[in-house]
Amino acid sequence: MNQLINFDEKNKVFHLHNDQISYLLSIEDGKTLAHLYFGKAIKEYHGQLRYPRVDRGFSGNLPGSLDRTFSRDSLPKEYSTAGEIDYHTPAAVVRQKDGSNALFLTYEGYKIVDEKPDLKGLPHSFVENKDEAETLIVTLIDEKSKVKFELSYTIYRDRPVITRSVRVVNDGNDAVNIEKVASMQIDFVDRNFESITLPGAHAHERRVERSKINQGIHVYASHRGTSSHQMNPFLALVDPETIECTGDAYGFAFVYSGNHKFEVEKDQFAQTHVNIGIDDFNFNWELKPEASFQTPEVLMVYSDQGLNKMSQAFHSLIHDRVIRSKYKDQVRPILVNNWEATYFDFNEDKLKPIVDDAKEMGIEMFVLDDGWFGHRDDDNSSLGDWKVFKKKFPNGLDHFADYVHQQGLKFGLWFEPEMISIDSDLYKKHPDYLMHVPGRTPSPSRNQYVLDLGRKEVRDNIFDQMDQILSSNKINYIKWDMNRHLSDIYEADLPSSRQGEVYHRYVLGLYDLLERIVDKYPDLLIEGCSGGGGRFDAGMAYYNPQIWASDDSDAIDRLSIQYGTSLVYPQSMMTSHVSVSPNEQNGRITPFNTRGVVAMWGDLGYELDLTKMSKEDRQAVKEQVAEYKKIRKVTQYGTFYRLKSAQTSNQCAWETVSLDKNETVLSVVRVMASAQPDLTKTKLVGLDPQKHYEDQETHEVYGGDELMNLGLYDPVERGDFKAKMYHFKAID
Ligand code: DGJ
Repeated sequence: MNQLINFDEKNKVFHLHNDQISYLLSIEDGKTLAHLYFGKAIKEYHGQLRYPRVDRGFSGNLPGSLDRTFSRDSLPKEYSTAGEIDYHTPAAVVRQKDGSNALFLTYEGYKIVDEKPDLKGLPHSFVENKDEAETLIVTLIDEKSKVKFELSYTIYRDRPVITRSVRVVNDGNDAVNIEKVASMQIDFVDRNFESITLPGAHAHERRVERSKINQGIHVYASHRGTSSHQMNPFLALVDPETIECTGDAYGFAFVYSGNHKFEVEKDQFAQTHVNIGIDDFNFNWELKPEASFQTPEVLMVYSDQGLNKMSQAFHSLIHDRVIRSKYKDQVRPILVNNWEATYFDFNEDKLKPIVDDAKEMGIEMFVLDDGWFGHRDDDNSSLGDWKVFKKKFPNGLDHFADYVHQQGLKFGLWFEPEMISIDSDLYKKHPDYLMHVPGRTPSPSRNQYVLDLGRKEVRDNIFDQMDQILSSNKINYIKWDMNRHLSDIYEADLPSSRQGEVYHRYVLGLYDLLERIVDKYPDLLIEGCSGGGGRFDAGMAYYNPQIWASDDSDAIDRLSIQYGTSLVYPQSMMTSHVSVSPNEQNGRITPFNTRGVVAMWGDLGYELDLTKMSKEDRQAVKEQVAEYKKIRKVTQYGTFYRLKSAQTSNQCAWETVSLDKNETVLSVVRVMASAQPDLTKTKLVGLDPQKHYEDQETHEVYGGDELMNLGLYDPVERGDFKAKMYHFKAID
């Protein structure tokens, strides 16, 4: 097997390479770790193409050196810190015993390991066999304090991907405080980048925003305690001419579910400096002698063929090497969820007919959403009391689960494990479990509060309660919800000097709780959720193979929500449901077919009262379900292409191609109708030009080259929000 990482002793250059990408870093004067290159593969680096030495005004030089041409401020680097003469936004800030933030990191050594070490307690990408990746660990040290930074780089053999993380080790005699520690930094030279980010709001997640990067510091962050609806932990840097199928794109996804900060700084020399890591807002980690701190991981992707190839690399990496669930290669069950059907107003008798109808329509799972526990008749009570609400289920939950199973359906159950209501038995017994600052009144949100999950005792309590329910073995799926963000940041077990650790300890506690559930119940399918898509991140993918994409179930809004989500996350991770029209969130009236077409691009479900549907719509559900069963393997696991975006045009077109190129599904949604519409076409991509493909509806046959080069005329229909889905199979 070829080595993936080489160290050139003479030039002091590390080269991480595979057939697709190269990443180069070098050790420069003053033992500074410099960044040389990240991009398309080069076979061999000969050593000459290095950063030119220039005497730059106001960019200081190395301590004690008279060489005016070497400056850590102008050199592209791998990791900048506060307290050295580098005026870029630092990747790390460490407060020393003397109160200063001095930290001057110099190269100490390196090691190359086969495979990829695990990040204990944190989600991370992994390998399945030793040969598929190598990891370079470069150690930098601050000689004075003996604080070390181990920068870790993993390259996969067959992917255009580098993963990065940092471990800080205190080898000194004094405790220090980490005030900021990015998981990675990268500096690009001579790029006129634009940024693509995924900001949003509740029920309005992951809008694609593209902006020119001018000189200055641009920050994309969340300090809500979660990865958030408001700013997904993702960034792409692209050339101005980059589009879906052509151009350079660098993508960065953070494998973390808490506060994050993406900093992009275009400096005085038009260099682009990027830091990605845990947000330093209210972050302060005490590092005692001999202790270490491990940052979460960043996945970096390079594409020379536009955004589609970048997304495909993320999809395949997250699917193959971040998601662990046994369901990751299984077609996902079509479900019906009672939330928008009944909200809190249900009991066993009201739900049974929905289950019966679901069975008749070919639906495969019934999910019992919020309201089945404590005495919860609305959202003001009972979070933390994970015991069945006897008024709604007088015969117990098992009895109802048995009924669902007898109809041949799987049974799913909703939990919100991180929360507590004041009106709950849990609060009566353990008021201190509610995260609050002593002596201050905590802030409610949806009339609920966050549990102090950094404490093991609190996690144990919730685990034991969930375990009681799950150990009946009647539950096939859980929906893990989270309906508010953190506030009143304080952990009762920590001294005042360590309250800056609370946000991160919360996330570590959450991961611990999830790990215990995943470990004890490997057969459970877990769907993540945070008021819709508020925690759609690569960290969650490690525990939850699928996530509810948004509380907005309107098909037209979903075009941009799912479009943005698809920049990073695979289709099998995205759950998407058909709901009523007019839509409950925005009142829009859309055709039933369009609602189905859009929802079929994720894991399909129904979020409406099946018993109240018209005869025609009931028939339509049956047909959709049958159709989806034919295509879901391809839509969930095929190679996904975005062809047209409704955010920038009147149409949205998506395509997926099976890995063997024998099957493809295409959908085109036209948003607004017009009296004299332009004629438009959709050209497929990614097919085999030699093969012939049969349209499964009309049985007409087309060459792969015809579908890709001539393209299909888009249907011209009267009425807004019309959609068409095609399914082709190779016949040769
Ligand atoms: C928010 C979720 O996104 C909804 O689907 C539903 O489960 C509600 N919470 C229940 O409270």
